[in-house]
Amino acid sequence: MTGKTLSFRNACAEDAAFILSLRTDTEKSRYLSAVSADIADQKAWLARYAQADDQAYFIIEYQGEPIGTVRLYNPLGDSFCWGSWILKDTRPGHAAMESALMVYAYGIDHLGFKGAHLDVRKGNERVWRFHERFGARRVAETAEDYLYRLDGEAIQVSRHRYRRFLDGNVQVEFL
Ligand SMILES: CC(C)(COP(=O)(O)OP(=O)(O)OC[C@H]1O[C@@H](n2cnc3c(N)ncnc32)[C@H](O)[C@@H]1OP(=O)(O)O)[C@@H](O)C(=O)NCCC(=O)NCCS
Repeated sequence: MTGKTLSFRNACAEDAAFILSLRTDTEKSRYLSAVSADIADQKAWLARYAQADDQAYFIIEYQGEPIGTVRLYNPLGDSFCWGSWILKDTRPGHAAMESALMVYAYGIDHLGFKGAHLDVRKGNERVWRFHERFGARRVAETAEDYLYRLDGEAIQVSRHRYRRFLDGNVQVEFL
């Protein structure tokens, strides 16, 4: 799938080392659920993922190099959830906005969802502020997380407002 400067490709077993390098980076993974540091476990997870049809796990690439990950999962009615969103420190400055816009373009235009939901650790303030600026509404909280919802209109307003990062839809060629 191609955006403006980024592309997403399906994660596969060969990405285990790259994914582990992000998920075992203590700073990056501070607010993510812990994963095993064993590469065989990561490969097994990716092999199971290859059989799943209820989620999409992408490697985010820039200029042909992997720079991060993102995942769409846990659909609830007409809303999809996304997360496992990590970008390397060497990402270009626009990567966060463009990759978020690509997730919404894919989830809404391509998969046909109407809205989205997210949960973010309360301590991950930079990230929940990102989502709030994007139009996410805090609808609930647990001891650890804030739960957010974006309705279709809020997503479309932000896609239009931020069209300089991604104008229109994504080109999808991997399905
Ligand atoms: C989550 C993550 C991918 C976000 O990427 P990021 O690059 O840190 O995102 P930022 O909030 O810094 O935003 C990037 C840029 O977009 C800009 N931006 C963000 N929201 C914006 C908005 N609404 N309008 C305009 N610009 C915006 C920021 O100002 C920033 O610009 P700068 O580089 O000039 O400072 C990254 O922080 C990460 O890997 N975190 C660790 C893993 C994690 O906790 N993931 C979330 C849990 S799912």
